Amino acid sequence: MRLNNKRAIVTAAGSGMGRAGCILFAREGAAVVVVDIDEKGARGTADAVKAAGGTAHVIVADLLKADECERVVHDGAKALGGLDLLWNHAGMPGPAEVEGLNLGAYAAAMDLNVRSGLLSSAAAAPYMRKAGGGSILFTASVAGLVGSMMAPVYSAGKFAVVGMVMSMAQRFAADKIRVNALCPGLTDTPMLPQFVNRNNDPSLQEENAKKLAAAIPMGRPGRPEELAHAALWLLSDDASYVTGIALPVDGGYVCR
Ligand SMILES: NC(=O)c1ccc[n+]([C@@H]2O[C@H](COP(=O)([O-])OP(=O)(O)OC[C@H]3O[C@@H](n4cnc5c(N)ncnc54)[C@H](O)[C@@H]3O)[C@@H](O)[C@H]2O)c1
Repeated sequence: MRLNNKRAIVTAAGSGMGRAGCILFAREGAAVVVVDIDEKGARGTADAVKAAGGTAHVIVADLLKADECERVVHDGAKALGGLDLLWNHAGMPGPAEVEGLNLGAYAAAMDLNVRSGLLSSAAAAPYMRKAGGGSILFTASVAGLVGSMMAPVYSAGKFAVVGMVMSMAQRFAADKIRVNALCPGLTDTPMLPQFVNRNNDPSLQEENAKKLAAAIPMGRPGRPEELAHAALWLLSDDASYVTGIALPVDGGYVCR
């Protein structure tokens, strides 16, 4: 088992990739803390982890709030008896506009996509040092590697995540804490239609969905489990010499 006796916190774990990750990590031997704003979703993930024979704790939190980002780490480490792994998976599409941008929506997107993981990682570092090392994973996006016509604000936040990961990897290397970014392409989760449909003009929604799908060489969106396997690799000791990378898992989207 790749995560035997590891203690992991996963944010935005009540759905999609975060949920798939929790189930996979538990199968690989980790005890997990499931963090989400949606209690029902978080409990659903914890039940699935337990059904797979694993151990799960639920923490309900709104990671748009700075103090919540730190609390989930302190409460999570307490529940787990320490901390080895943190997956900062929370994020949101945010506003699509450039002209007519709503500044409140801009700030919320930056707070969730960039600040939440930064604050949780800062809170996690002392626990990981105490454990003799650790692994931190951020979810960025292919929009953090190449520009996105449909999502300039989202892309700005995800590029920031990649820059932060490359910088934090250097800062924490001496502590044996690895820091990496997972860059999903279109992935089949509830966020996908949210992303495509947030354009205010409904007549463009179908066209946008088609344009996005046509841009994937493998011709389909990713499955949450496929992303979870990449997250497992980056978090586990199988990637023991890997730090500061931004790994696209995208059916070939960024290699075009
Ligand atoms: N799905 C995609 O196509 C795609 C592509 C690239 C990157 N991503 C990134 O993946 C992450 C989203 O994961 P998903 O696709 O598995 O989505 P998802 O919709 O399945 O899950 C998102 C989860 O985040 C939770 N959440 C939302 N706001 C929150 C908050 N303020 N505090 C705590 N939890 C909150 C939701 O309740 C939900 O359970 C984001 O970082 C997103 O930018 C997604």
